[in-house]
Amino acid sequence: MSKELNIGLIGFGCVGSGLYEVLNKSKLISAHISKIVVKDRFKIRSIDESHFSYNVDDVLKDDEINVVIELINDSDAAYDIVKRALEAGKDVVTANKKLLAEHLDELIAIAKKNNVSLLYEGAVAGSVPIIRNLEEYYNNDSLTSVEGIVNGTTNYILTKSNEGIGYDAALKNAQELGFAGVESYPRRRWI
Ligand SMILES: NC(=O)c1ccc[n+]([C@@H]2O[C@H](COP(=O)([O-])OP(=O)(O)OC[C@H]3O[C@@H](n4cnc5c(N)ncnc54)[C@H](OP(=O)(O)O)[C@@H]3O)[C@@H](O)[C@H]2O)c1
Repeated sequence: MSKELNIGLIGFGCVGSGLYEVLNKSKLISAHISKIVVKDRFKIRSIDESHFSYNVDDVLKDDEINVVIELINDSDAAYDIVKRALEAGKDVVTANKKLLAEHLDELIAIAKKNNVSLLYEGAVAGSVPIIRNLEEYYNNDSLTSVEGIVNGTTNYILTKSNEGIGYDAALKNAQELGFAGVESYPRRRWI
């Protein structure tokens, strides 16, 4: 029997809000986002303020939440959150490339020790299912490395650059579409 997913979502930016929308529309997945943790109290949100918390402990210390989905844009804070979530016995999904590049082995060891899953397909190749394919179909093969531009944002920028619009315009385009990060947030609610 598949287990009921009671999700604590950390981060409600481009990816987090997109995930929220998809899960709300899907009738196939038995998953419920019960809390959303964000950082900026003054930002205008697309859903009601009552959905949000500003304290990560509201998710990490909630025994009802069995899955933490980490989608923030700060890899140091993400390291702390992911580590604590795994140690608290929660399955974790993350899309944080820098976090994984720096701490993957350690986080896998913590997940194994606590008998929980660490899933990170969304961090690789713009969510093309490459990790699962490698694990399921090449598990017994002796693959030692995979080479390529396995990052959706980089691929988008390179494709657009090759179309002749240039790097700066391609990056701006990717930022406007929410693929690449931006330095500041234009939409704010001031009190
Ligand atoms: N965008 C993409 O196409 C894409 C693709 C694959 C992977 N990723 C990865 O997915 C992650 C999220 O990317 P994104 O584009 O969605 O970022 P984003 O739009 O910049 O949103 C980041 C979110 O994280 C929240 N946040 C930041 N620090 C926090 C903290 N300490 N505690 C709680 N919340 C915090 C922000 O809160 P506020 O809303 O309060 O500012 C915001 O909601 C990143 O690791 C990124 O590399 C992104």
